[in-house]
Amino acid sequence: MDWQTLLDRLHDKGLTVTARSMHKIPYTTEKGVFDDLSESNISWWTNGFWAGLLWQFYGAYGGEILRKAAEEVEEKLDKVFLLPQGMDHDSGFRWLPTAGANYTLTGSEDSRRRLQLAANDLAGRFNPAGNFIRAWNDSGDGKTAGWAIIDCMMNLPLLYRASELLNDPRFRLIAVRHASTAGKAFVRADGSVCHIVAFDPNTGERLCSLGRQGFGHGSSWTRGQAWALYGFTLSYLHTGERDYLLTAVKVADRFLQRIPGSGLIPVDFDQPAATAYEDSTAAAIAACGLIELAEAARDPGYREATLRLLTALAEKRLNLDEDCDHLLEKCTAAYHDARHEFAIIYGDYYFTEAVMKLCGKETFLW
Ligand code: GLY
Repeated sequence: MDWQTLLDRLHDKGLTVTARSMHKIPYTTEKGVFDDLSESNISWWTNGFWAGLLWQFYGAYGGEILRKAAEEVEEKLDKVFLLPQGMDHDSGFRWLPTAGANYTLTGSEDSRRRLQLAANDLAGRFNPAGNFIRAWNDSGDGKTAGWAIIDCMMNLPLLYRASELLNDPRFRLIAVRHASTAGKAFVRADGSVCHIVAFDPNTGERLCSLGRQGFGHGSSWTRGQAWALYGFTLSYLHTGERDYLLTAVKVADRFLQRIPGSGLIPVDFDQPAATAYEDSTAAAIAACGLIELAEAARDPGYREATLRLLTALAEKRLNLDEDCDHLLEKCTAAYHDARHEFAIIYGDYYFTEAVMKLCGKETFLW
């Protein structure tokens, strides 16, 4: 595969799609046309990824239309800071690909301030009894006060970034406490990971694990495995803490053992064959993590695995038709959702990020 040629084609398509998608914050497509969550669901956790994709193209190729569209998304997200249930642990997903990218590429002071606000809120979700960051908000019964989820490993880079920006170790200290808790509480002996762990919010005792977006309790939800793989690798890159590297290697080795012959990734490695849904996002996220891990662990085997995942996606699941807004086909948000195997914006984002990494053109957002 000629990855640079592919990246040029992704960029060409990106420009065409941006021109007809101005003012949108897409999540998926309907008949190939991006939807828009700007009004209907501005606090949705995926609302940073379209801007992240635009900033990645801007960082590699320039182009004012890309910057303009990305900045508009970032400004729209300001509403989220004030919504009663708008903020949750996914602040990293919302503001690193928007404000974080903008600050890196342009030095915008408004973006720096947004990063600071988002990091303060994320740090405020830390529970010192159990050394974890609370995931979701209260739905009226107090049930989720002690819930942490594996996805949060990908939000920790917002805290590492805030410590650097503000010359203040508190954010990093919270991130490492959460990462160390997650290494013990989420990662199973075989290297697979739980989605949710419930702690007693008063004592910090680990109560149980819960399945949710995967097939069931004890199963191996692939996007969760991919968040862990990439997330522990990132925590290692930010801290140099060897335990995180070892955890990333353990999770990656298990993931690699379970990649099907097709190279395409199911929603859950343990789902029944009769309802075998695919999730291209898990493949793309794992590919990003594996490229970084190949360097960090000095193991070229992880790079080979990356190429296998990305080649399968590029050959079988990539839509380069410029009349269609999305890139990746067959993404799935959760096994038990009514809808499976459709386009999802973070699939497009991470696939492009992975190709950017291969070409040495990435703006590092995490
Ligand atoms: N909340 C992140 C995910 O669904 O993967």
